[in-house]
Parts: sequence; structure tokens; C-alpha cells
Amino acid sequence: MASLCQLVSRGFCSSAARNTVIKHVTVIGAGLMGAGITQVAACTGHTVSLVDVSEDVLKKSVQGMEGSLRRVAKKKFADKHEAAEEFIQKVLQNVSVSTDVASAVAASHLVLEAIVENLKVKRDLFARLDKLAPEHTIFASNTSSLPITDIASSTSRQDRFGGLHFFNPVPMMKLVEVVGTSATSRETFDSLLNFSRSLGKTAVSCKDTPGFIVNRLLVPYMMEAVRLYERGDGSKEDIDIAMKLGAGYPMGPFELGDYVGLDTIKFIIDGWSAYNPDNPLFAQSELLNKLVADGKLGRKTGEGFYKYK
Ligand code: CAA
Ligand code: NAD
Repeated sequence: MASLCQLVSRGFCSSAARNTVIKHVTVIGAGLMGAGITQVAACTGHTVSLVDVSEDVLKKSVQGMEGSLRRVAKKKFADKHEAAEEFIQKVLQNVSVSTDVASAVAASHLVLEAIVENLKVKRDLFARLDKLAPEHTIFASNTSSLPITDIASSTSRQDRFGGLHFFNPVPMMKLVEVVGTSATSRETFDSLLNFSRSLGKTAVSCKDTPGFIVNRLLVPYMMEAVRLYERGDGSKEDIDIAMKLGAGYPMGPFELGDYVGLDTIKFIIDGWSAYNPDNPLFAQSELLNKLVADGKLGRKTGEGFYKYK
């Protein structure tokens, strides 16, 4: 017999629940993405609990948000220093940080995960969260490349689970990919779309396919640039200049790789090549593997394809 999900048109499950208006968000993972998402949510009037396993990361994350907010305030308020300071403090008042995930999720409309790109680690986290968060709480993952279905199946709330894929740097990038699985309810999907719009972002709807839209196109392009360089067909610098001036990209592929994090790129490629070893677009790169093995992960470690001060 066909399941209810299969019977519902547009690929969404029906549910009697009404759309959840998302006001309080818990963001798990205070790295590059978690900090950016927290900042943007707090800027748009949401209250945010930011959780990480490390107090030190949380401290650095708040410092990073403050730095980024100063850049935003500089544009918004020009020379009005008092107004800029007031804006920054008001935004930061919307954020609380914690290493205690249980208390953070207790009153959340949405729990958004932005931890390491590893299926088992994400599944373990969500299985635990499923027992801690209220029934109505929606779960979402910011995964770059993993199937949302595989993450969601670690919980008993697959109808209240979707993907919310943000882009780095979150305060500047205008897009969010909203991902629905075959089990995501229409109400959940709409709540996630509305939440993305409430952040001032443009949302696109995506199916739960590898890399959704952007990364399915962007990551093979970046890997192709690495292969071009490995073959000796162009220097990193020339390839970066060529793509900026010849194709209008704001960053060249090596600059972008360092910006995103080479570990993240490697996690994505490792996952896709394991699922689909015959696809040459997903082939491994010796250079990328070596850089990651040497801890040269890009800007965040001070060296990747390039060196940073
Ligand atoms: N926070 C706040 N403001 C920022 C900012 C940040 N993190 N970064 C840039 N800005 C603003 C500031 O106002 C800044 O001016 P100041 O330096 O005076 O503060 C202004 O933008 C200009 O910034 P920059 O001079 O640093 O350089 P830029 O004009 O090149 O803009 C950029 C920076 C927005 C990052 C741009 O280079 C860009 O769009 N790069 C491509 C990014 C991209 O492709 N991201 C997607 C990656 S893929 C991904 O995220 C998905 C995945 O799953 C891996
Ligand atoms: P990151 O390494 O900067 O941060 C990850 C953070 O998660 C770390 O601070 C770590 O301490 C924390 N963490 C790990 N396990 C945890 C747990 N169980 N509970 C709480 N915190 C935990 O990584 P990132 O670049 O911010 O990426 C996070 C996610 O976002 C990944 O899934 C990645 O694929 C995705 N993503 C990354 C980018 C990018 O450009 N870097 C863009 C879009 C999506």
C-alpha cells in the first residue's frame, strides 16, 4: 500500500500541524557557518542560542560576530559611532552561548545544525536532540553535501526535518537553499522558507540530491581547477585571475577553496566519490588530500593553497 507521503502531491507529506513561526533558534556548531547564521538571525530579531562543544570556540565565535557586525555597522551607520555601537550591542543581546545542548534546545522553534561534515557525527547529534527537543521543534541541517534523508532518519521526526543550506560568508551571501525530503511535511517546508525570507535571504527550493543546486555545480568546478593546476596547465594565480576577470567570479577557485575550508571541500568529495566512484567529476585530488593531511585547511589555519597573515 502506498504511504501517505507517496499519495501527497508535490512530494510533500501532509500534516495537520500549522506552520511554525520561527522566533527562537538554536544553532549547533559555532564555527564559520554557525557564527554567520547566528549573526544574521540575531540581526533580524530572532533570539538565538549558539551551542558548541568548546568554550574557546564560542568565545572566538562571539569575537568574530562582533568583528563582522562592525563591518556591517560601518556601512549602515557611516560616521554615527553611537548608533553603530547601539546596533551591535542590540544584536548581540539576542545571542546566548552555551555548551549545554539540553537547556539550549528546550524552548526552540528550530534547531539548526552546522557541525562537522560527517554523517555519523551528525546522526548521533540529531538522535540525541530528538530526545531533548520539544515535539513541535523543527530540525534542519546546513550540510553541504550529505543527504538530508540519511541525517533525518536518525530521528523520529522526519516530517519536521529539512535542509537549510547557507553560503559563506553568511552575512553577505543572499541565498539559502531550502531542502525537502520525501518525508518533510509541507508545513515544515513552508516554515523553513518563511524563516529564510525573514532573515532577508532569497530562498530556492531544492530536492535532496547530492550538493543540492549550488555545490553540485560549484564543487566539481573547483576540483576541475585543482586538476588543471596539478597537470601543470596553469598556475594557481593565473587560474584565479582568469576566472575573476574572464568569468566574473568574485573569487578564483583556489581563493574560494581556501575561504570555504579545504577540509570541507575534501569531506564533500570523499562522500561523493564513495557513493559514485565512477564519476570523474568526483575524483580525488592528491594535492587536496595532502594539504588537508598537513593541516593546511585554508584561511582558518593560515595556509591552504595560499599563505595568509
Ligand atoms: N561580514 C560582514 N561584512 C562583510 C564580510 C563579513 N564576513 N565580508 C565582506 N563584508 C563586506 C564589508 O562591508 C566589506 O567592506 P570592509 O572590508 O570595509 O569591511 C565589503 O563587504 C567588501 O569586502 P572585501 O573587501 O573583503 O571583499 P569583496 O568585495 O571581494 O567581498 C566576498 C567579499 C563577499 C566574500 C566576495 O569576495 C564573494 O562573494 N566571494 C565569493 C563567496 C562565495 O562564492 N561563497 C560561496 C562559497 S560555497 C558555500 O558557501 C557553500 C558550501 O557548502 C561550501
Ligand atoms: P567549522 O569547522 O568551522 O565549525 C564546526 C564547529 O562544530 C566547530 O566549532 C566544532 O567545535 C563544532 N562541533 C563539532 N561537533 C559538535 C557537536 N557534536 N556539538 C556541537 N558542536 C560541535 O565548520 P563550518 O565550515 O562552519 O561547517 C559546518 C557545516 O556547514 C558543515 O556541515 C559544512 O559542510 C557546512 N557548510 C560549510 C560551508 C563553508 O563554506 N565552510 C558553507 C555551507 C555549509
